[in-house]
Amino acid sequence: MTFKEEIEQGIPSELPSVKLFDPQINHAPKRKKILTSEETKLALRNALRYFDPKHHATLLPEFSDELEQYGRIYMYRFRPDYKIYARPIHEYPGTCEQAKALMLMIQNNLDHAVAQHPHELITYGGNGAVFQNWAQYRLVMKYLSEMTDTQTLVMYSGHPMGLFPSHKDAPRVVVTNGMMIPNYSQPDDWEKFNALGVTQYGQMTAGSYMYIGPQGIVHGTTITVLNGFRKINKKPKGGLFVTSGLGGMSGAQPKAGNIAGCVTVCAEVNQKATHTRHSQGWVDEVISDVSILSHRVKKALKNKETVSIAYDGNIVEVWEQFDADGIHIDLGSDQTSLHNPWAGGYYPVGMTYEEANDMMANDPDTFKEEVQKSLRRHVKAINAHTAKGTYFFDYGNAFLLEASRAGAEIMASNGVDFKYPSYVQDIMGPMCFDYGFGPFRWVCASGLAEDLEKTDAIACTVLEDIRKDAPVEIQQQMADNIQWIKGAQENKLVVGSQARILYADAEGRMKIATAFNKAIEEGSIGIVILGRDHHDVSGTDSPYRETSNIYDGSSFTADMAIHNVIGDSFRGATWVSIHNGGGVGWGEVINGGFGMVLDGSKDAQRRLESMLFWDVNNGIARRSWARNKEAIFAIKREMKKNPNLKVTLPNFVDDDLFN
Ligand SMILES: NC(=O)c1ccc[n+]([C@@H]2O[C@H](COP(=O)([O-])OP(=O)(O)OC[C@H]3O[C@@H](n4cnc5c(N)ncnc54)[C@H](O)[C@@H]3O)[C@@H](O)[C@H]2O)c1
Repeated sequence: MTFKEEIEQGIPSELPSVKLFDPQINHAPKRKKILTSEETKLALRNALRYFDPKHHATLLPEFSDELEQYGRIYMYRFRPDYKIYARPIHEYPGTCEQAKALMLMIQNNLDHAVAQHPHELITYGGNGAVFQNWAQYRLVMKYLSEMTDTQTLVMYSGHPMGLFPSHKDAPRVVVTNGMMIPNYSQPDDWEKFNALGVTQYGQMTAGSYMYIGPQGIVHGTTITVLNGFRKINKKPKGGLFVTSGLGGMSGAQPKAGNIAGCVTVCAEVNQKATHTRHSQGWVDEVISDVSILSHRVKKALKNKETVSIAYDGNIVEVWEQFDADGIHIDLGSDQTSLHNPWAGGYYPVGMTYEEANDMMANDPDTFKEEVQKSLRRHVKAINAHTAKGTYFFDYGNAFLLEASRAGAEIMASNGVDFKYPSYVQDIMGPMCFDYGFGPFRWVCASGLAEDLEKTDAIACTVLEDIRKDAPVEIQQQMADNIQWIKGAQENKLVVGSQARILYADAEGRMKIATAFNKAIEEGSIGIVILGRDHHDVSGTDSPYRETSNIYDGSSFTADMAIHNVIGDSFRGATWVSIHNGGGVGWGEVINGGFGMVLDGSKDAQRRLESMLFWDVNNGIARRSWARNKEAIFAIKREMKKNPNLKVTLPNFVDDDLFN
């Protein structure tokens, strides 16, 4: 069967042969056993409803075994034999170009070179799922291969509910992930309802088909590290950045440190993750002995080297050893997956990786105690460094939140705030989001590296042009992103699809998209898919991350994210998605995303102007209403440019009135 025929057949009528478990692949940790025996039957019934009853007797023991062994039913047997990766768009079956673009993006999220646990359909973050099982994958690809441009595919947490009649300007796909009745958003609710096969954790770009490998996070992390050093008035050269995690997102930290020019130490307990990042050239050196690490770092600092070093072990050991050895850490952070602390996101100090995995599955209560004990020790060591001048920030992984829940000494003296800022409070919020700067990205659907090179050049010209008349408030962001795009080819950031990211505001995003659409119309490049991650101005309500610099109390509301996805959907997005969970944990955030296909047409031009304008200015308006002065500046500027925009502005109250 050809690739196209395999896609078109969906779930095969005859059972494919059983797939052996491949130990070479990085697999998802065994999920905790949470279902009662009645619920176990329900999970199995739920799984079997994808298949012809004639196969049920064969599949039942197999799925039952998967549930018992891995805590989930992945339906491994149905994993396709063809290679999954972002193919050039013309290789996908069907007649609807937008649907083909979606197939390309889905396959990119499941590419072995891109995905964290590809056989479990997890793209990043330990639980960021594209689908819950392989039957859903097969059905979705089939639906996309037959859809027309007057239909919309409806996705319920990985499950394709079906193709529904709509219209040409409607999104081709509408995705929801992990939407729960609010009282059912505790971590164990995810464990249970995911095991039942009725919901999934879509993270951000995993379940919205917009992951572009670690490049997205390299860019965000580079901007953060650069601005972090600016915050402490120090040049990166000769400075030290200590953090942890070499996984899906966190793996970008050493590369970003290298681009910024400092010494980076990144601890990682999973040797497979360390090996992947080292072999990809994302981290320069690996050291397994903490005292050797200490010597190496002293030498690197003395020689002002630009170097990134992976410590093959627990991050807590690094903080403690550097304290004992008097190594001054300039910037400190953490990117373990603390949004998912009890199921493999955070490994406690004092036990091996294997011991921890075993305890997690077989003695979850003791494991939880170990995690919390480790977090208390972790924070104690960080506090020792910050007392000596280290600037520590939470990197959007729920570190401060989980440390506070563990009873670590992490609260400020008022007992309400944390001792340390989140990177959004101090860096990204006021410097980027409030001005509308966020993670605009694109993918060249031809799969040609030369198309990406051309789009890089187009984007650079557009940004340089805008910069000439840009106000002083945004000059630094413009300069950083021009420098980034100029170095993008040389930094070899592509893993998977031919994709690029940069931070731009509404004007930048619209002008770059317009220039791409024109280049497509002229035939100099092929179709381009636009998107962003959810770590942005408007799409995400997340009180401990994206909206942590909102101080009017509304950071615990989710109106902005919901408005954003609704607004995007009727202004021309090709697909929209809304998720519970994201980077900081199930129940802790609502985030939305979009994808938009540019094909050089007038329709595409109309859509991009309408949707991108809204997609950025919705959030600026809300940030301005929250009295953020940078956002008030930005929204007033937009209102001047576009008389159709009329935003309610806040009045400031004189604090003396309260005395
Ligand atoms: N700041 C941002 O912009 C941003 C963006 C995306 C994700 N995140 C968050 O960052 C976190 C990491 O994301 P990811 O995709 O890299 O997750 P991941 O699970 O792929 O990687 C985390 C890594 O940390 C390692 N680890 C866990 N405990 C450790 C310990 N005590 N010492 C050393 N290593 C340890 C794990 O083995 C794992 O490889 C998540 O919580 C995610 O939501 C932040």
